[in-house]
Amino acid sequence: MKIAVIGTGYVGLVTGVALSEVGHTVTCIDVDPEKVEKLSHGIPTIYEPGLEELIKKNIGQGRLFFTSEHRTGLKEASVIYIAVGTPQRKDGSANLDYVEHAALDIAANIDRDTIIVIKSTVPVGTNFHIKNLINKNTKNGIRVKIASNPEFLREGSAVKDTFHGDRIVIGSEDRETADVLAEVNKPFEMPIIKTDISSAEMIKYASNAFLATKISFINEIANICESLGANVEEVAKGMGLDHRIGPDFLKAGIGYGGSCFPKDTNALVQLAGNANHEFNLLKSVIEVNNKQQILLLDKIMTRFGDISGKRVAVLGLAFKPNTDDLRESPALVMIPKLAALGANVIAYDPIAVSNAKRQLGTEIEYTEDLHSALNNADFTVIITDWPDVKKIGLTVFNKLMKTAIVFDGRNCFDLSDVRQSEIEYYSVGRPDQA
Ligand code: UGA
Repeated sequence: MKIAVIGTGYVGLVTGVALSEVGHTVTCIDVDPEKVEKLSHGIPTIYEPGLEELIKKNIGQGRLFFTSEHRTGLKEASVIYIAVGTPQRKDGSANLDYVEHAALDIAANIDRDTIIVIKSTVPVGTNFHIKNLINKNTKNGIRVKIASNPEFLREGSAVKDTFHGDRIVIGSEDRETADVLAEVNKPFEMPIIKTDISSAEMIKYASNAFLATKISFINEIANICESLGANVEEVAKGMGLDHRIGPDFLKAGIGYGGSCFPKDTNALVQLAGNANHEFNLLKSVIEVNNKQQILLLDKIMTRFGDISGKRVAVLGLAFKPNTDDLRESPALVMIPKLAALGANVIAYDPIAVSNAKRQLGTEIEYTEDLHSALNNADFTVIITDWPDVKKIGLTVFNKLMKTAIVFDGRNCFDLSDVRQSEIEYYSVGRPDQA
């Protein structure tokens, strides 16, 4: 089938590439000609394991194209995906400007009746609004059908999640549209849920809100464990074996970040408010997360009293491993606070340094070399559980740091290993090893 995808961010690019990999002919459209130029030459614009190979392969096999021209990109497409950003507005609601622009570009350029699929995370009701917007602006009586097909991929494992996800959700107005999209998605060999549009839109928000709730729940349990001398990892293991609870998303730490959970939880609170529902549970989830990001700093201040002039190695800038994305990363909260308290920060990340410089400025030191970050440091703060940090070997802290004091926001190390080492160690929801 001939498919067009508007937007080449995480969702759009991975969707377009995956659809071409399963045999469709796909043109990805982006307004940024620089991105298009790179992608056309097989150079990925985001870091995502496995993506580069797939882009190169499918360009080579003549199934994947990139353009910044809507007229060319939308020509002869039977299905058009909208996968542009829906960033957070100041009041917490989702900003639909990019989705509306995409809709108007579609209306101005399609040459046949088409199915429009909204992949972007949008508030309930948006699909109908977009359908009306397009149909009001098309020429020659062309009409579109609309479908909601929310995305569940995670950054850092986007390619894997796209091919081995748990389900595909298709919300449509009629059976015929659902059947066409089920056919498009058949090669992914995943359970397909066909439902109405509003429910599909809500499935996305409810899923992200539930996952964020699991994280804030375990973080609260972690904080209580600390006061009572229990170990949150043992607690999570014991809870997770109950299949009704499940082991995933029960990893306590410095709080969730990224481009989705913070934005989508706020948007759902707004959406509920618009429907006269006070979503108190979700408001608490957000509050717990905001607090969680500074609890580690409280520990640092309790330990030192004053950190001015101290050299601090901050390990990890990205909001999670395997991505160079810093959006809503706890590093963006922690580092400015450490610097404001007079600490000399040296921040390590294997791939996110250039993004970090844009957001955190050049007043702190950066390095892509883990060992040089630790050199002569007074203490270390772990923000991202990068594999090389987890594998570091605890003796390295003793060898390189001035004083081997580690505040671990991601519980990277086994307490039994820590006990055998000579480091002073503080983690989340587990007894301190001082
Ligand atoms: C999340 C969802 O997991 C995806 O299903 C969804 O498609 C995506 O949002 C989206 O809406 O686009 P993502 O933000 O890429 O994916 O990353 P996650 O792996 O879910 O991690 C989010 C944050 O939660 C990270 O900061 C991570 O460190 C934190 N986290 C995750 C925890 O603190 N504990 C956990 O147990 C799991």
